[in-house]
Amino acid sequence: MKTALTLLLASLVLVIVALGSGAYNMAATEKHWGITEKIIEWVRVSSIEARAKDLTVPPLEDPEFIAQGAEHYSAMCTICHLAPSIKPTELSVGLYPQAPVFHQRETITDQAKKLEQAKTYFWVIKNGLKMTAMPAWGLSHDDQAIWGMVAFILKLSDMTPEQYKNLISSAKDNAHGHDDSDHGHSH
Ligand code: HEC
Repeated sequence: MKTALTLLLASLVLVIVALGSGAYNMAATEKHWGITEKIIEWVRVSSIEARAKDLTVPPLEDPEFIAQGAEHYSAMCTICHLAPSIKPTELSVGLYPQAPVFHQRETITDQAKKLEQAKTYFWVIKNGLKMTAMPAWGLSHDDQAIWGMVAFILKLSDMTPEQYKNLISSAKDNAHGHDDSDHGHSH
């Protein structure tokens, strides 16, 4: 028992000395081990689920809501998450972890699953994710604006470049006279 404890303490000290000496490579180009990646994913999914499960999802099919989300998305998110017809950017290729490309995700047809996905998307957009480059948009946007982006992202699966362009340009037309000054960003 005593030897086991000594060994454990000795390895802990070794780990600390190794980390302090700079042995761990923090570079974004240095991928995690498979097991580390699985652990991070498990922690992330559990953390988001626990915090998102009690959210109330507003009606996501409202076209005006979706158009509002489209406008915000095209102004703030495509540099990392891309969109139909937008090629990988200099910023997006350097990210680690990589930002998911929503328009390449499969459409969720199951209604219950869609609601669960909407809740987790909302939570991540509002609060951001530590050590990933995903910002917390809740500091600059109200819940209504964030739900709009959620509604739009859920529509992005399988969207053609044509449909995307139409949606963005009609959203911009509708936005005329709509005061965006409280959002703290320009587009
Ligand atoms: C600077 C790059 C960057 C910008 C800008 C950005 N994101 Fe992200 N986002 C990320 C990264 C990286 C991840 C993945 C984090 C991970 O894998 O843990 C992510 C994750 C997400 C997720 C979670 C996806 C999932 O599978 O659960 C959502 C939703 C999301 N972003 C939405 C947005 C929206 C909406 C915007 C614009 C308002 C935005 N992001 C802007 C980098 C960015």
